[in-house]
Amino acid sequence: MKLRIGAILAAGLLGVAAQAAATTTVDVYKSPTCGCCAKWVDHMRDHGFTVKTHDVGNKDIRKKSGISESLGSCHTALINGYAIEGHVPAPDIIRLLKEKPKAVGLSVPDMPHGTPGMESGRVDPYNVLLITERDQARKDTTIYHRYDPHAKKAVETEPAASPEPEQNGSVMRLK
Ligand code: CU
Ligand code: CU
Repeated sequence: MKLRIGAILAAGLLGVAAQAAATTTVDVYKSPTCGCCAKWVDHMRDHGFTVKTHDVGNKDIRKKSGISESLGSCHTALINGYAIEGHVPAPDIIRLLKEKPKAVGLSVPDMPHGTPGMESGRVDPYNVLLITERDQARKDTTIYHRYDPHAKKAVETEPAASPEPEQNGSVMRLK
């Protein structure tokens, strides 16, 4: 039942915050040929964000933004002073903009199946990570939101910072 209450709360927050999102411009740095990046941009627009794309890749901006290689994914977005790496769901970004924590931003490292823009039919568990310091290693970040389609109950209280198994083959690795 914890889950249901959480969902109702989240839906309420989303309604309020979606209006704020409409006036928020997001700068997305991506490769011109990346299909999943384009789908994530659509996902952000669907949630009311105004998106400006920069088809110049994301390596330089990622580094400049203080996001370490270990947290890297296919695109980097800049929003209200925060950096967003990879296929982060819009509701988590809306929550970030509302809560305004002292942080570099959020990351979903690599490209897990089932994240927004990575709808492959397969849905894997993944974490949205809060980056609290520049160049923070993946293992030192905090779990901001855990998505686990197979979980029977809420797992939000799971201890943070256990590095994910590197060779489970469940995520698409970036080169
Ligand atoms: Cu991608
Ligand atoms: Cu991308």
